[in-house]
Amino acid sequence: MNPYLTRDKDDDEGTNASGSTTGLGHILRPGEIDVSHGPILYLEDVTVSFDGFKALNKLTLSIDEGELRCIIGPNGAGKTTMMDVITGKTRCQTGKVFLGQTIDLRRMDEPSIARIGIGRKFQKPTVFASHPVWENLELAMKTDKGWWPSLRSRFTRPAQARVEEILSLLNLEQDAFRLAGDLSHGQKQRLEIGMLLMQQPRLLLLDEPAAGITDEETMELAALLNGLRGSCSMMVVEHDMDFVGALAGDTGKVTVMAEGSVLAEGTLDTVRANDTVIESYLGR
Ligand SMILES: Nc1ncnc2c1ncn2[C@@H]1O[C@H](COP(=O)(O)OP(=O)(O)OP(=O)(O)O)[C@@H](O)[C@H]1O
Ligand SMILES: [Mg+2]
Repeated sequence: MNPYLTRDKDDDEGTNASGSTTGLGHILRPGEIDVSHGPILYLEDVTVSFDGFKALNKLTLSIDEGELRCIIGPNGAGKTTMMDVITGKTRCQTGKVFLGQTIDLRRMDEPSIARIGIGRKFQKPTVFASHPVWENLELAMKTDKGWWPSLRSRFTRPAQARVEEILSLLNLEQDAFRLAGDLSHGQKQRLEIGMLLMQQPRLLLLDEPAAGITDEETMELAALLNGLRGSCSMMVVEHDMDFVGALAGDTGKVTVMAEGSVLAEGTLDTVRANDTVIESYLGR
């Protein structure tokens, strides 16, 4: 278990994702996602139509607790739309979208889904440019945790300790007092992931995190994500095959999407050797 992602006992205070004080039969707190059957995320027959065009077409996919799943596929395959559905930004017309065994994400709105433990990173880093790096991390913890931390003293000792831990994890300790706007693109990408980690997510969705960063920074990002393995489940959409290789290794599962559904799934070597995949994506 990664110590950076453990919850402080006093963070919970008996509130659930909807802000009420007791559970009502559904398991809603991030620490209580039911992964007893393996998957932390389960999509079945998910369809999204835009004016008759099916961006997702009976998409069925599941991700195990603690897994780092890479998703590849051609432009327009529906990868971002899938993340939009998981996070409640886009509603699917049919299908199931579950977090763990019991949490029906289709019934929840975007803020509730974020609070329940799904962190999402868009392609463009969104950091507070005119604030120092450390303060970005502190603000990230406060803004998404609602009213409770705001009532507490400004920068509590556990909060400070967590900021320091995340800075070290991000390899940004030397840059803690620089303005976030002065960081390189790759450092900003890492900082934004750190901001998500401040919220102690159970599942991180990363959409093309390596786009536009240098080769060196790409490998640093891969090391960061590999370091989170086991403590936080991750879904990483990416076109950069070196990056995918660094994340998937020899045994990690890679999902290839095309035309709104899963085209192939298996180790990177397996999907690379798949004729349909070569034809529709890799060989182009
Ligand atoms: N709001 C929308 N309205 C209409 N069509 C949309 C909308 N959002 C996505 N689409 C279409 O759905 C398809 C899937 O788009 P999506 O962005 O999910 O693909 P993607 O796999 O993320 O592609 P890329 O690799 O280029 O990011 C595309 O054809 C896109 O034009
Ligand atoms: Mg996309």
